[in-house]
Amino acid sequence: MKILFIGDIVGSPGREMIYRYLPRLKKKYAPDVVIVNGENAASGRGITKSIFDDLLRAGVDIVTMGNHTWDQKEIFDFIDETDYLIRPANFSDEAPGKGMTTISKNGITLSIINLHGRTFLPPHGDPFEKATELVKEAQQVSPLIFVDFHAEATSEKIAMGWHLDGLASVVVGTHTHVQTADDRILPGGTAYLSDAGMTGPYDEILGMRKEDVLYRFKTNMPVRFEVPKEGRTQLNGLFTEIDDTTGKAIHVERVSINDDRPFQN
Ligand SMILES: [Fe+2]
Ligand SMILES: [Fe+2]
Repeated sequence: MKILFIGDIVGSPGREMIYRYLPRLKKKYAPDVVIVNGENAASGRGITKSIFDDLLRAGVDIVTMGNHTWDQKEIFDFIDETDYLIRPANFSDEAPGKGMTTISKNGITLSIINLHGRTFLPPHGDPFEKATELVKEAQQVSPLIFVDFHAEATSEKIAMGWHLDGLASVVVGTHTHVQTADDRILPGGTAYLSDAGMTGPYDEILGMRKEDVLYRFKTNMPVRFEVPKEGRTQLNGLFTEIDDTTGKAIHVERVSINDDRPFQN
């Protein structure tokens, strides 16, 4: 099974990149499953029903989330209605939605798990314990398991990679919005990348208007961060191929498109 994963989609510039490049990426990589992190899809904060529907129409199969899951209150109205959007599994048991889902393509089933880090982020449940629990559950269905670990610290993400090496097919990090260059297949057969990066504005700060972020750093004064409407854009992600029988990764590579690094067919 071939999987294309796209890192945090930020606002309309990020969504535009999906609409513009997903058809070309599908042609190049022929993925069986397309997974995106959509926690910043609505103006940098959460996701709405219409954006979620647009992403599915554009060819996305599964949307994962993160610390911005609840930013758009309307998510409470549709998160329990869909199998195609998941939020971190180690959120409170009281939280609506779910942290794991499955998708079947051409007779092969993939489980997708979303987890949230605890280092430099709000203290949710133990992601390592939850990972063990959910991977055991997923293995009953199929050895193909994809994990989006939404976390700040690279050390915590690398720890999760090793924790799940040989258990999950893919462990990819999201949240920092900066793609790391450590894509590899761990000895047990797990495709790993500390952070997939971000899809949205290219000449800003983590997708937000750089003037606002600079002002906050320089003054410590409150300022609302906005996603700029214009400017250069980027798309970051990960492409990986998994052995359908063993669930081990065969291939992994970073995907990175921007105006300085144009799309290569
Ligand atoms: Fe994000
Ligand atoms: Fe995040």
